Amino acid sequence: MERTFIMIKPDGVQRHLTGEIIHRFERKGFTLVGLKMMQVSRELAETHYSVHQERPFFKGLVDFITSAPVIAMVWEGENVVSAARNLIGQTNPTTADPGSIRGDFGVSIGRNLIHGSDAIETAQTEIALWFVEDELVDWKPVRQSWLY
Ligand code: PPS
Repeated sequence: MERTFIMIKPDGVQRHLTGEIIHRFERKGFTLVGLKMMQVSRELAETHYSVHQERPFFKGLVDFITSAPVIAMVWEGENVVSAARNLIGQTNPTTADPGSIRGDFGVSIGRNLIHGSDAIETAQTEIALWFVEDELVDWKPVRQSWLY
């Protein structure tokens, strides 16, 4: 089973979209194995986005992520890394498909509501960065045989 790191960004929390977003992941068939609300430190935000540190939006992105609480989550399921990216939609909400989270609820690239790991390796790195092992719960939903 694959796991991915998902973060509802400050705009998603402030716009009361937390339940809607979690609902979409649950209805799709994925299993929530870790969740916490947190105020992100500058150090954590800079580490998480370090691959983008030379890009012009880097400081603004770190300012935004540290401006108000986020919801950090780990979701589990078959092919969850790429499937979550589909649920989330393209980076720019203007061009994200209707039916995706960004396509349905976003209008601006700097306020695109949610982050999802872009690859299996990245997911492993991000999960280890945001969660300690005992914050993640190993469990299987009872009706899993109807999914796989
Ligand atoms: S991708 O798909 O993650 O590789 O997209 P990318 O375009 O490389 O963007 C990397 C992250 O930076 C965010 N981003 C921005 N934030 C603020 N302003 C602007 N202009 C901007 N452009 C890109 C983008 O949402 C990605 O962050 P996450 O959290 O992964 O969505």
